[in-house]
Amino acid sequence: MTDLSHIHRFAPGNRREAASLLLLHGTGGDENDLLPLGEAIAPGATLLSVRGKVLEHGMPRFFRRLAEGVFDEDDVRLRANELADFVAAARERYDLAAPIALGYSNGANIAAAMMLLRPEALAGGILLRAMVPLRVAPQADLAGKPVLIVSGQSDPIIPPSNAAALAAMLTKAGADVQQSVLPVGHQLSQMDLAVAKAWLDSREASISPAVVPAHAGTQ
Ligand code: MLT
Repeated sequence: MTDLSHIHRFAPGNRREAASLLLLHGTGGDENDLLPLGEAIAPGATLLSVRGKVLEHGMPRFFRRLAEGVFDEDDVRLRANELADFVAAARERYDLAAPIALGYSNGANIAAAMMLLRPEALAGGILLRAMVPLRVAPQADLAGKPVLIVSGQSDPIIPPSNAAALAAMLTKAGADVQQSVLPVGHQLSQMDLAVAKAWLDSREASISPAVVPAHAGTQ
């Protein structure tokens, strides 16, 4: 779909009590990439999967970088705000409560930036191979928002210590953060899926459902 500000795919779920997921791919991916992972982590949940608008040598990303792990922070701010505006418009279009972000690598980094810059946009986040997106944390109130950060012990791009710094940043803003470090590298593994699913299952009761409650009884 292209008529909202970002190319995306919307897959309505059949489990009303499940929170919806906002899927954010890694560098070089697109809106199709994480749909199978979203379905596996949250069977029956509504999925909104977005393509990043920035191109790096033809590869879609969510913001510009100057080198691997060195971000153009002005662009991070601009793109995080743009994406938060997209999420607000998509929520209205599809009648959704605030989603949980499920992001991988560059997608996890824009999710973290969005949480810090526009806390209202997301109900929480599953951040796979995330790092600190902004050197100076903006003032944000993330009181009680659940966040899972899953890092790879031997990730050559994102050392677990950087993910730990992100965990500290989000915790300081009030989020309820869990960091899990797996014996893997940057690529996703079956363990990511298992950890993310267990975390989401344990949180489901406290996370708002996909559909805005006021409309929930009318269909
Ligand atoms: C980023 O640019 O967001 C990180 O370096 C991860 C990546 O996309 O490779």
